[in-house]
Amino acid sequence: MMYTVLLPAAGSGKRMGAGQNKLFLELRQIPILIHTLRVFEQDSKCKSIVLAVKKEEQTFIEQMLIKHHITKVVAITEGGAERQHSVYACLKSSPDQGIVLVHDAARPFIKQVVIHQLVQTAEESGAAVAAVRAKDTMKKVENGIIQETVDRESLWVIQTPQAFQYALLEKAERLADKDCFLGTDEAMLVERLGEQVHIVESTYDNVKMTTKEDLLLGEVILNKHKQ
Ligand code: C5P
Repeated sequence: MMYTVLLPAAGSGKRMGAGQNKLFLELRQIPILIHTLRVFEQDSKCKSIVLAVKKEEQTFIEQMLIKHHITKVVAITEGGAERQHSVYACLKSSPDQGIVLVHDAARPFIKQVVIHQLVQTAEESGAAVAAVRAKDTMKKVENGIIQETVDRESLWVIQTPQAFQYALLEKAERLADKDCFLGTDEAMLVERLGEQVHIVESTYDNVKMTTKEDLLLGEVILNKHKQ
């Protein structure tokens, strides 16, 4: 099954503290955004890419796409104030009403095998998200005091990609928008509809480039992938 990927890339990356969009920072002389785009450019099952960008960065990004021979971007739309708004803008520009995958442009190390598993599960069941098991002991804390140790067996850390049948994500986004509901991921919007969202086990190296430490980790992961 072919799919379209929606890539929100309109953040400011405040936590990175780089003074510019963190997606323009380079790992091995290649911008993070291009690393992520290459995963989908090289996946024969990906038929198109939709990007959400900041208006003032659009021309720069378009030049970047040409320079790095990225050919599958079919639409570039203006992102919103929150990530969810950027994803909804991408969805509205999607030419494909089959399976859509939402993926943070700031996660350049996603593996093709996980993407394909997500697409297959979404095709069969409607919605699937990449996730890894919680590794640490998890506790609920209020005002600096532990309230409860949460059973780790049932806890998963959720990543992107998140894959959906188009109609399901469109309904979830439309209702969230109407209700001014802001979720922390797309799965949350689908959960609100009472629909099931499946887990696909991903890898711990599918990290989101968020802080300066993540850039160091990113170099290590790239070295490992090259071996
Ligand atoms: O800030 P964070 O890393 O969590 O953002 C995840 C992804 O969402 C990034 O690729 C970022 O560019 C994007 N984003 C967006 N629009 C926003 C905020 C974030 O497209 N308003």
